[in-house]
Amino acid sequence: MSDQPILALNEAERETADRLLSTFLGDYERTLRSRPLVPDVDRGTLAALLSDPFPDQGVGVEGVFREIDERIVPNSTAVAHPRFLAYVLGPPNGIAPYAEAVAATLNQNCNFWQLSPAASVVERAVTNWLGGLFGYGEEAGGILTGGGSLATLNALTTALHARRPDFRARGLQTSAPPLVLYTSREAHRCVDKAAAILGLGTENVRHIATDDRFRMRVDALEEAIRADRAAGREPFCVVATPGTVTSGSVDPVDAIADVCAREDLWLHVDGAYGALFVLSDDVRESFAGVGRADSIALDPHKMLFAPLEAGCLLVRDRSLLAQAYAFSSSYLTVEEDPLMLDYMDYGPQLSRDFKALKVWSALRAFGVDAFRAAVDHTLRLARRLADRVEAAPELELMAPVPLTAVCLRIRGAGDAEHTAVLARLIEEGTALLGPARLNGRQGIRACVTNHRTTPADIDLVVDRLVALARETCPGGVGGAAR
Ligand SMILES: Cc1ncc(COP(=O)(O)O)c(C=O)c1O
Repeated sequence: MSDQPILALNEAERETADRLLSTFLGDYERTLRSRPLVPDVDRGTLAALLSDPFPDQGVGVEGVFREIDERIVPNSTAVAHPRFLAYVLGPPNGIAPYAEAVAATLNQNCNFWQLSPAASVVERAVTNWLGGLFGYGEEAGGILTGGGSLATLNALTTALHARRPDFRARGLQTSAPPLVLYTSREAHRCVDKAAAILGLGTENVRHIATDDRFRMRVDALEEAIRADRAAGREPFCVVATPGTVTSGSVDPVDAIADVCAREDLWLHVDGAYGALFVLSDDVRESFAGVGRADSIALDPHKMLFAPLEAGCLLVRDRSLLAQAYAFSSSYLTVEEDPLMLDYMDYGPQLSRDFKALKVWSALRAFGVDAFRAAVDHTLRLARRLADRVEAAPELELMAPVPLTAVCLRIRGAGDAEHTAVLARLIEEGTALLGPARLNGRQGIRACVTNHRTTPADIDLVVDRLVALARETCPGGVGGAAR
């Protein structure tokens, strides 16, 4: 019987795996631009992936790399392609695959610090740095999550515990008046989803009207709060969005924070898309007031270009986070360690992966200036795209462009024509853009979240859009929008 552990690689297999991984990474990077943006999905291959039994005798290292190469990669979306401009989804930074490999090797369980001392401090260093971007101080704390949706769910859980101290024991099964949550019509679905999961009920979520720039109307918010109080309901939380998912509109967080202070409401900021634009000198001012929030959700897997998944919840008073989540008998009786934290006391998970390593590694390897430059780069490209759309008589902007989401329409075209143009752009391999719906009108949305995109990529997209607009509406150039 060999001494080789059953599931370890021997020396030769490790060398093969190293070589094949390094070839894969190099080839992927070199061929990114020529890859199809959207895979020409091979249904036969995918059906076989589903039905193939797992072999009793494995296919080995070379075999598995071959399968990845032949079956997985060709049927995967090229998210890092420079003209992948759909959704808020960017390519991972260059150090990420290596940091992920180290994290998988160390396999730290980031639940309590004795199991993962360095990881506990690294997570704290990352969340402290993120909190510092908004002026959060010593009292603040945070935890990395699977994304912005989970960060918002955990934030609203924390807000509920803060509002109803007996929530842990009694849930919402009390005779107290229904709690009401306020957000805007442009808020992300994750707010409704969190309200549904937490048992608040989506009927108790008010979607406040927005102004002509798609920002929450503070007067309408105040009016809704007044109406709910008059009807015997209990307003408890406002979710503001600096950087809405469709148009990137930035809610007036400072004015909303004034309302929350006056009305004694928890202010949560959904900064999943927008918050990290605070890194840019050009737009930082728009984020004034975010640091006044009780909690902030943001996404390193968006504007810090971390690979999925890396979201983050920050809470201004971290004892409230522990109040919601700490079930360990020690937490509330033992002094908090000034260095190491037990992250199981800050969120719903016990076993947790070492997400912080990929964020920390990138900040250390590239330095913060590189991230400022990457964020500025995306803002400049979005501005270029918006300027070119405005200058083209065939096209029109559907909304101002404060960040990097650009919503546009072909003048004179209807919903079906916009859908057809999106399909053409994909088919011919020009770009992957997404649909946009604003004020009930259908259009096209490009969101620049890619540090690889160049001005030439943007120009190519606009040139094709103009050409397709002329084909779509030959008589409609410069005509009135429907
Ligand atoms: C404003 C906003 N909130 C929440 C989310 C959801 O974030 P995640 O996909 O990380 O859960 C997004 C995603 O784009 C978003 O733009």
